[in-house]
Amino acid sequence: MILIIDFGSQYNQLIARRVREHRIYCRIEPPQISTAEIKAMAPEGIILSGGPASIYEKKSPRVDLGIFDLGIPILGICYGMQYMADALGGKVKKAEKREYGLAELRIKNAAGIFSGIEKKTKSWMSHGDTVGSLPKGFRVTASTASTNVAAMENPAKKFYGLQFHPEVDHTPKGKRMLKNFLFATCKCKKTWTMKSFIKESIKEVKHLVGDKKVILGLSGGVDSSVTALLLHRAIGKQLTCVFVDNGLLRQDEAEQVKLLFKKRFKMNLKFVSAKRAFLNRLKGVVDPEKKRKIIGRTFIEVFEKEARKLRGVKFLAQGTLYPDIIESKSAYGGPSAVIKSHHNVGGLPKDMKLKLIEPLKHLFKDEVRVLGKELGLTEDLVWRQPFPGPGLAIRIISDVTQARLSILRNADAILLEEIRKSGLYRKLWQSFAVLLPLKSVGIMGDQRTYEYIAAIRAVTSADAMTADWARLPHSLLGRISNRIINEVRGVNRVVYDISSKPPSTIEWE
Ligand code: XMP
Repeated sequence: MILIIDFGSQYNQLIARRVREHRIYCRIEPPQISTAEIKAMAPEGIILSGGPASIYEKKSPRVDLGIFDLGIPILGICYGMQYMADALGGKVKKAEKREYGLAELRIKNAAGIFSGIEKKTKSWMSHGDTVGSLPKGFRVTASTASTNVAAMENPAKKFYGLQFHPEVDHTPKGKRMLKNFLFATCKCKKTWTMKSFIKESIKEVKHLVGDKKVILGLSGGVDSSVTALLLHRAIGKQLTCVFVDNGLLRQDEAEQVKLLFKKRFKMNLKFVSAKRAFLNRLKGVVDPEKKRKIIGRTFIEVFEKEARKLRGVKFLAQGTLYPDIIESKSAYGGPSAVIKSHHNVGGLPKDMKLKLIEPLKHLFKDEVRVLGKELGLTEDLVWRQPFPGPGLAIRIISDVTQARLSILRNADAILLEEIRKSGLYRKLWQSFAVLLPLKSVGIMGDQRTYEYIAAIRAVTSADAMTADWARLPHSLLGRISNRIINEVRGVNRVVYDISSKPPSTIEWE
């Protein structure tokens, strides 16, 4: 495995992805990790990440100096290289000219980390400090017009430093450099496969759970579904999944979950129909945040009630993913992540003292999809677009009623059917319908109509932090509009949302 020390760079997860693409397991840990802990992990190599700090700031992140005596190859990137230079007796200074963006790298010797790379290549720079003098045993291996030490190495110790970012696409030969470090220097083997992950996880879960029982809140989304399947493989009927039908789901969604998990996978599934409780509490509520709070609270109540009915439950399983975990342990450790890691089920029944099981906590989303496929999850579910916990309630602008839910559900089903047919479903981050509380005038046959407006939202995005409205073909928009107006009673006008995030958001509420 490869250990990545997190000095706070925005690219850390990208480094991890690059390592895993080579089927090498890696972990991201904060700089507070001790040398003893690192030794116990026995990594084949260590990568010191970049970060926003300056080495001479009092609070700049530092890792135990003992890592340089472990005999393990180390690659320092940007701040990671400056830290290495400083820690080993070199000097870091403010750069005369800060360097941001693309710079031509002049490689002195196409060996070591630069093995097989031409002498002039592009590199992505983003730094205000620079290594002024090298630590003993090091030599300069590449420069740019404004940075003398753009790369350095101590081949005897297998220590390498890169001032630029090899993990980003803007450094075209960056992948080759990382490959050189991983295979030629660290002698890593390609052993990280989903089959090996499944085997290891099953062993771990069995050992942890013993003969006790586990409960899981199943939402029908990718993360909780894959968690359910993995645990089911490990402990079978000791796992009980609780699915809460809050009445705010899309067409056929609840039935599909029942069919798949109960009938096909033969799991213990507690199907709780709580539509009435949710809808009663939402009566007359217009404010989006109030809707969210009501739905969250009601969910916890229903879930807790079911959990109490099951005797002997000692564990609560959650589909927490690696990005949530990294955030909670990052160099500057934000408190937000603590909230996030519990947001899957909304909260633990405190007096039940359930222990957490999070079998996906070292995986990225795309790895969870591969795992899901490996465990026999349907393509449909593996590639499901995200759907918010509060469901259709935050897509009905204004208060939620049965009648409005039914209109929105029908319009949304048509939209999704057409998006799927067009082959665009997977290319879109999300695509859905929104029901506006406005009525407008229309004409159908010889009749004047006065009905609701439905909005269509389709966005592309990598992580929901930013999003762009999808340029759907006009012919597809035409079909969707035509079908919704003709087939959904209560809608006589369809509009397309052409706002990006920011400044808008993906959901309307
Ligand atoms: P926004 O609307 O903030 O959405 O651009 C970003 C992503 O988060 C989803 N979303 C939610 N998910 N509970 C959830 O579980 C919520 O209250 C919630 N609000 C928004 C949204 O669907 C998008 O993927």
